[in-house]
Amino acid sequence: MSFVPRVLAPARTRLARVAASTPRSLFSSSTRLYSTSNSFFSPQDIHNASHSPDHIQSKMPAKELLHNNHRFSEFDLEGRVYAITGGGRGLGLSMAEALIEAGAKVYCLDRLESPHPDFLIAKKRAEEDYGSSLEYIRIDVRNNTEVNNAFAAIAAQGERLDGLIAAAGINHLQSALEYSQQALDDVMSINYNGVFNSATAAARQMFKYQQKGSILLVASMSGLIANKGMTSPVYNSSKAAVIQLGRSLAMEWGRHGIRVNSLCPGHIITPMVDEVFRQNPAARATWEAENMLGRLALPEEFRGTALFCLSDASSFMTGSTLLIDGGHTAW
Ligand SMILES: NC(=O)c1ccc[n+]([C@@H]2O[C@H](COP(=O)([O-])OP(=O)(O)OC[C@H]3O[C@@H](n4cnc5c(N)ncnc54)[C@H](O)[C@@H]3O)[C@@H](O)[C@H]2O)c1
Repeated sequence: MSFVPRVLAPARTRLARVAASTPRSLFSSSTRLYSTSNSFFSPQDIHNASHSPDHIQSKMPAKELLHNNHRFSEFDLEGRVYAITGGGRGLGLSMAEALIEAGAKVYCLDRLESPHPDFLIAKKRAEEDYGSSLEYIRIDVRNNTEVNNAFAAIAAQGERLDGLIAAAGINHLQSALEYSQQALDDVMSINYNGVFNSATAAARQMFKYQQKGSILLVASMSGLIANKGMTSPVYNSSKAAVIQLGRSLAMEWGRHGIRVNSLCPGHIITPMVDEVFRQNPAARATWEAENMLGRLALPEEFRGTALFCLSDASSFMTGSTLLIDGGHTAW
C-alpha cells in the first residue's frame, strides 16, 4: 500500500500547531506525586477503594495545586512504557504521539522497513519537546517468537510495560466467492493472529514484572456492520474476532489488573483507506454520506481515545468495545 502524503499532510500540520500550543505543564513531572503504584490489584483493594492509592479520589490535585495546571493527573503517563503495533504510520503513529505528549516512552512496532517520515518528526518532538522517547522496532506480528522477543526486550529496559495498542492490520477488498486462500490467510493471520500474539506477549511481560496494564485492540466498526462501499468479508469478520478476543482476554486477566478493551473506529483517512479509494473512488462519497458528521475522521481525532484507554482515567473500563464512528452505525 502506498502512502499519499497529500492526504495526511494537512492533519500533520494541524497536529504540529496543537502540539506547539499545548502547555507542557499539563503533564509536568510534579504530577508524579499522584501517580499510582505499580502493583497488582487485589479484591481487598476494591473494598478499600477510597483508601487505595489507585482510587480516583487519591489522584485529585491538592487544593493549593489547582492553579498550577496539576489537573487530571489520572491522564499522566510520565515514566510509563507502551508498545504500539502498526505504529510506523497512520492511526498507530497518531496514538503514539498522544501517549508521548502525556509523558510516556513509546515503542512503535511495524513491518515497514523504515517508518513513515512523520515518525521522525514525532521522534524529534518526543525527545526535544517532551523529554521522552519514541523508538522503532521492525517486526512482523505474525511471527510469535519475534513478537515475544520484542516485548521482552522493551519491558526489560525499564522492568515494566504499562500497555499496548494493537493497531497493525491490513485490508483486502474482494468478494467472498473470489477470495483466494492466500488472501484469507494473510488477513486473518495479521488482523487476528497478530493481535492475539501481541496481546499475549504484552500480558506475559505484565505478569513477569507483576504490574497492572492496559491493552487496546484496534478492531473496527466493520467488526459490527457490513460496510457500504467496501466489499471486504474477511476484514470485517477478522475485526469481529478481535472484538470477541478483547472480551475474552479481559475476563482472563482482569483480576490481575490487566484491562483489555477494543476500539471500533469509523472511517479514518490513513494509507489503508487511501488504498480503498484508489481501488474504489466512489467509496469516499458513500462513506461521507453514511455518517452523521458528513466527513471522514483524521487519525489525530483518536488521540484522546488512546490517552483515555491507556491511562488510569479508564481504570474501571475493561471488556468494553468503544465505537467511535461519527455516528455511522447510529442510524
Ligand atoms: N483507517 C480506517 O478507516 C480504519 C477504520 C477502522 C479500523 N482501522 C484499523 O486501524 C488500524 C490501523 O490502520 P490504519 O488505517 O492506520 O492503516 P495503515 O495501513 O496506515 O497502518 C497499519 C500499519 O500496520 C502495519 N502492519 C501491517 N501488517 C503488519 C504485520 N504483519 N506486522 C507488523 N505491522 C504490520 C503496516 O505496515 C502499517 O504501518 C488497523 O488495524 C485498521 O484495521 C482503520
